[in-house]
Amino acid sequence: MHPPKPPARADRVSLLTYLRLFRRDILSAQPARLYRAWMAEFRTPFFRSYMVNDPALIRLVLNERPDDFPKSDRVGEGLRVLLGQSVFVTNGETWKRQRRIIDPAFEGGRLKETFPAMVAAAQAAVARMAASAWGSAGATAGMVEVEEQASHAAADVIFRTLFSIPIEHEIASAVFQEFRRYQRSQPILNLAAFLPLPRWMPRFHRRATRASAAAIRALITRLTEARAAEIAAGTAPDDLATKIMTTRDPVTGQGFTPAEMVDQVAIFFLAGHETSASALGWALYLLALDPAIQDRVAQEAAALGDAPEFSDVNRLRLTRDVFRETLRLYPPVPMLVRENRCPEEFRGRKVAKGAQVVLSPWHLHRHERLWAEPDAFDPDRWGGEAARVSAREAYMPFSAGPRVCTGAGFAMVEGVLLLAMLVRAFRFGRIAGADPMPVAHLTVRAKDGIRLKVTPR
Ligand code: HEM
Repeated sequence: MHPPKPPARADRVSLLTYLRLFRRDILSAQPARLYRAWMAEFRTPFFRSYMVNDPALIRLVLNERPDDFPKSDRVGEGLRVLLGQSVFVTNGETWKRQRRIIDPAFEGGRLKETFPAMVAAAQAAVARMAASAWGSAGATAGMVEVEEQASHAAADVIFRTLFSIPIEHEIASAVFQEFRRYQRSQPILNLAAFLPLPRWMPRFHRRATRASAAAIRALITRLTEARAAEIAAGTAPDDLATKIMTTRDPVTGQGFTPAEMVDQVAIFFLAGHETSASALGWALYLLALDPAIQDRVAQEAAALGDAPEFSDVNRLRLTRDVFRETLRLYPPVPMLVRENRCPEEFRGRKVAKGAQVVLSPWHLHRHERLWAEPDAFDPDRWGGEAARVSAREAYMPFSAGPRVCTGAGFAMVEGVLLLAMLVRAFRFGRIAGADPMPVAHLTVRAKDGIRLKVTPR
């Protein structure tokens, strides 16, 4: 079964057309040959960029010499007003120090301690799904926009695990609402983030974007200040925020200042909820497309009680394979951008210093020379040797190397748990004519949301 894939553009287009397409959606702005090529060069008067699909080159950039391929300053351009100096946008020593403080909070052992908060969020997600399918007057009975539900659930997970508060908490829900406004107000983000526009070009962060970012940061500041006071008083809950705010960098002995913590919380919220929500929404859609697999997932999930234990998640093998396959077909972060600090030679081609090196999970995961049936939804492939070989070479939904997603382990537990709990409670059905089309904004989302028919099991 082949779920929706954006149409590719013609092989040759003018720069203006390219920019226009790019602004609308990075995925449909690319030609089909990128699903076959090992490398492609984009030349424009303003910039050169190289998309790299060759596994050896990807390893070079992410694993072997990551310090020579830092994140480009421009990547953070559209996000900086929100994220400040957060770990997602920094480089070099600042970034290394930040990771030394953050990483311990996401280690395996901590994940187990975080798990009850995830379960509480999953139970709330099930209740919210039921309410939106049948509860509110005016809603078409049983029709639900599941992306929105997934966003709500993922934001809930973040607030509960980070600050021990549910999404209904006054500040949590204000951050969530404000964040939606922020996304709506900054359509230029794609372009500013990926293309090194010439310096003279106005990089307008619209006034609404700035105001939204400031409002989000003010709300987060209230949370971190309250937490700092609780830590000082010895009354702080044992959650991720407390862990991060009390960890000292083993090298310098310094922890985060309150201002730095605001930057980090902003990225945990952004990186942790948009991405997981995107994956969960697509996973539900893929299961709606394939009722036989959905029934098998439901059977597996039936063994879970209402309040699963951490060890139960390990037994959800098929659910995990569905989630993996979803991350392959719809990687929430479709492309990563780096900049080379020194002149390089890639596959015999000279790459000047300062070029953009684009690594594309989107293309790599659907690469015709690296995957069998790349566009098919087939979770069972993950049980076979061929997929394991492909995955080693060509699967990186969380990136790789030292800059790998800090939340990868967290997301794999959260995603599998939410998916299992939802499919255990409901049957998700496709609505004819309402299939979603993927577009890449901050993450890979459906152009007009994902509407599914939801019935109780
Ligand atoms: C399915 C869910 C997720 C996906 C697919 C995902 C994917 C990614 C990817 C691809 C990157 C690297 C971006 C780049 O290098 O340009 C990244 C970085 C990051 N992610 Fe995730 N992520 C997910 C969930 C989470 C969660 C739940 C958290 C935290 C609670 C999180 C926190 C971060 C942080 C802090 C970084 C920056 C790491 C660094 O630059 O050192 N992510 N994520």
